[in-house]
Amino acid sequence: MRTFLISGVCFLSALIVTVISLKCQQCVSTTENKCEGTEITCSTSENNCVSLTTETIVGDTKVNVFAKACSASSECNFPFFMTDGNSKTRGATKCCKSDNCENGVISLPNVNNTLNGLQCPSCNAVGTDKCEKSSTIKCEGAENRCIYYSLTVSKGTTKISTATRGCGSENICSSSQTGLFHGATLNFFECSSASCLYHSLLVPIIVELYLIKLLS
Ligand SMILES: *[C@@H]1O[C@H](CO)[C@@H](O)[C@H](O)[C@H]1NC(C)=O
Repeated sequence: MRTFLISGVCFLSALIVTVISLKCQQCVSTTENKCEGTEITCSTSENNCVSLTTETIVGDTKVNVFAKACSASSECNFPFFMTDGNSKTRGATKCCKSDNCENGVISLPNVNNTLNGLQCPSCNAVGTDKCEKSSTIKCEGAENRCIYYSLTVSKGTTKISTATRGCGSENICSSSQTGLFHGATLNFFECSSASCLYHSLLVPIIVELYLIKLLS
């Protein structure tokens, strides 16, 4: 009886999993705030159709990306910010939960250039998945984490890896980011608390006190 019941439950949950496999559009546009794509079947952990809009400023160039994909709930409905030595990105995601559903127009979150007292190591490297700190940047607005990530971008048979360190908002740390880096493979994404400017000033002082004590 019990085995029967358990197998019945398993059968039922298998059935539910099949039923809730969502279908979403997958597409990317760098010219419009919309795109039409191919329909894909989401994995069982992805129960949302996400739309993503981002703006990245590199020097004098502004790049806008709009994308649609399947996503986990952790990537849904939040604004996010990232800054490194070369570029500044802001973006937002929005989700819906029915087959091929539309999220409509998504607006970019407001820019906030106020320094928040935190700082992070910064570097950009192309052709490698590692980069060591080459300078330090001061974080602004909601960017209260230090981020470090590596992407691999494929173009035909060529694969190029990049590594980046900088400041980022906390919400991108808790998302699984697969949708955010749509079109590229994320090799790793690490977050740490941005060090407080005052704490980093304290470190040499503590080392110095320790040395004085040792020498006396
Ligand atoms: C802008 O960022 C600063 C520093 O994090 C914060 O104190 C302030 O509330 C933010 N302003 C707005 C309008 O979000």
